[in-house]
Amino acid sequence: SFEVYAEQSDITVTVKEDESVADALKAAGVKVQVSCEQGTCGTCLCDVLEGTPEHRDVYLTDEEKDDNDQMTLCCSRSLSDRLVLDI
Ligand code: FES
Repeated sequence: SFEVYAEQSDITVTVKEDESVADALKAAGVKVQVSCEQGTCGTCLCDVLEGTPEHRDVYLTDEEKDDNDQMTLCCSRSLSDRLVLDI
C-alpha cells in the first residue's frame, strides 16, 4: 500500500493493493473523473506534486511518463511511499 495526499481536498488516503488511486480517493469523498478505467482515455489524468508514480496506463507517452509530473488515477500506482496530487 501507499499513501496519497490530495492537496486541494486536504485529504489523505491509503491505497491498498486491490484498489485504484481513483477508488480510494472517491471513497474518501474526493471528486475524481473517470471514464475508461483502463488507462486509455486520459480522463482521470492528474498532476503529481510530489512522489514518483508507477505508470500503468497507455495514455501518456514514454516521455511524459518519465517526467513523472502527471498520472492516470484509474490504474497507475506509486513507486514512492507517498504521492501528493493536485486534486
Ligand atoms: Fe481513462 Fe483513467 S479513466 S485513463
